Amino acid sequence: MIFSTSPLALAGLLWVRHAHAAYSIATTEDIKSSASQVAWDLVSYYHGNETGKTPGILPGPPPLGDYYWWEAGAMWGALIDYWKVTGDNSYNNIITQALLFQVGPGRDYMPPNVTASLGNDDQGFWGMSAMLAAESGFPDPKPSEPQWLALAQAVFHTQADPDRHDPSCNGGLRWQIPLSNNGYNYKNSIANGCFFNLGARLARYLNNQTYADWAEKTWDWMAGVGLMDEDHNVFDGAHTDFNCTDVNRAQFSYNNGIFLLGAAYMYNYTGEQKWRDRVDKMVDSTIRVFFPDNIAYEPACEERMTCTVDMLSYKGYVHRWMSTAVQLAPFIREKVMATLQVSTEAAIATCKGDATGRTCGFKWSTKAYDGSKGAGQQMNVLGALSSLLIPDARAPYTNETGGTSRGDFNAGSQSDKFDGHKTPPTMADKAGAGILTVIVLSAAVGTFGWMSTGV
Ligand SMILES: *[C@@H]1O[C@H](CO)[C@@H](O)[C@H](O)[C@H]1NC(C)=O
Ligand SMILES: *[C@@H]1O[C@H](CO)[C@@H](O)[C@H](O)[C@H]1NC(C)=O
Ligand SMILES: *[C@@H]1O[C@H](CO)[C@@H](O)[C@H](O)[C@H]1NC(C)=O
Ligand SMILES: *[C@@H]1O[C@H](CO)[C@@H](O)[C@H](O)[C@H]1NC(C)=O
Ligand SMILES: *[C@@H]1O[C@H](CO)[C@@H](O)[C@H](O)[C@H]1NC(C)=O
Ligand SMILES: *[C@@H]1O[C@H](CO)[C@@H](O)[C@H](O)[C@H]1NC(C)=O
Repeated sequence: MIFSTSPLALAGLLWVRHAHAAYSIATTEDIKSSASQVAWDLVSYYHGNETGKTPGILPGPPPLGDYYWWEAGAMWGALIDYWKVTGDNSYNNIITQALLFQVGPGRDYMPPNVTASLGNDDQGFWGMSAMLAAESGFPDPKPSEPQWLALAQAVFHTQADPDRHDPSCNGGLRWQIPLSNNGYNYKNSIANGCFFNLGARLARYLNNQTYADWAEKTWDWMAGVGLMDEDHNVFDGAHTDFNCTDVNRAQFSYNNGIFLLGAAYMYNYTGEQKWRDRVDKMVDSTIRVFFPDNIAYEPACEERMTCTVDMLSYKGYVHRWMSTAVQLAPFIREKVMATLQVSTEAAIATCKGDATGRTCGFKWSTKAYDGSKGAGQQMNVLGALSSLLIPDARAPYTNETGGTSRGDFNAGSQSDKFDGHKTPPTMADKAGAGILTVIVLSAAVGTFGWMSTGV
């Protein structure tokens, strides 16, 4: 075993200081066995399968625990990729239980418990994990249960509803779904990125142009409103109060990652030069902004460690999404994998396995444990390890090439439109914050000023 307590390990600090060398990516077998320990440590943050606990979620949401609802949704996706690249099905039961328990009454990943912080991005992360299950051939639920593809469609269809695309800022999705939530007046890149990503994937999976049209429209909107510039820098978001002219230029790695992967699906689906160019540019921008010295870095918050718990999990998504993009747009393989290799080497160097416990850190560029631990940090390293194996794993299925998941073009049509919430918000409604990117000045700042100390 890698972190065994051999006499040597106990012999002295010197050895312990270098214990990070214990994880290795030298061979495929090394990557898999490293991933299996990192996955185990990740799952140790999950208690939803214990008596009296809620299946599907990580401890939270704040202040009940560190994690918002969306992060568990993201974690199931990370564990599906882990299963796909290693064949280790140890967690398949909890993954299935989680993804089915949280579907909500409309089978659309809008469970009432999370309404007060329900963003399009929160819903989108669960939808993308369901989509990944369909594309990966993850075991289908019993026919009486909701099916992976239909769940992903439900998320997409509810987000394509005209109600969610009001004319302010010329269209686009708002961050929050219910009108009463703090952040309803913000249109942001991650919400639109989830929608774009799912649209591109559903178009390819079902060979259906309707989804591709939405994806294309969303990309164009991002560029038109100034949330994505010529060089494919992606900015955080802007407010409807100002018709989105107040672009918050903070850059987060998952925004680039989500648009890169979606663009790769669009390229694969259309074969168009236009999408090939977009993929190429997005790879360059992602490496330039988020991989200084080829090591994943979160520029908006890492230097002074002002990252929120949410932000501490983005590196792993970027790794997995870049490597999945390689499967769909193989022409980027060399450029991407050269970077991910160096980055993963640094990632595992932040893991320690001494007598004080086994865990991975966050500041990968230091190549040493930095004292920062949590589910996000663990999921990042798992994502990095998986990303080295993803390009050679089987490519995402489509309905024609092995996918068995059953879809439903009507999924989401009976969903809650939150009309009941179009009344003045209660304090309870205001308490949630969903995926906290940056709290920005807005017309609401007087009312919600207490929240802007969060970053
Ligand atoms: C919960 O799932 C984990 C991972 O599969 C497993 O190790 C643990 O024993 C399970 N706990 C219970 C109470 O079933
Ligand atoms: C909603 O919260 C209640 C109370 O904590 C819990 O019993 C229930 O299982 C939760 N439902 C979901 C879908 O998480
Ligand atoms: C809002 O911005 C869009 C461009 O994003 C523009 O087309 C539209 O005219 C603007 N609307 C107003 C009322 O200024
Ligand atoms: C689309 O993806 C498949 C599966 O990875 C790959 O074999 C094919 O070459 C891709 N198509 C293009 C145009 O790159
Ligand atoms: C998916 O493929 C199956 C056969 O494998 C076919 O019966 C079904 O109609 C297809 N679904 C769609 C939406 O194309
Ligand atoms: C394509 O998808 C749309 C939107 O879900 C659906 O209404 C339409 O029937 C689908 N078309 C085909 C040919 O399956």
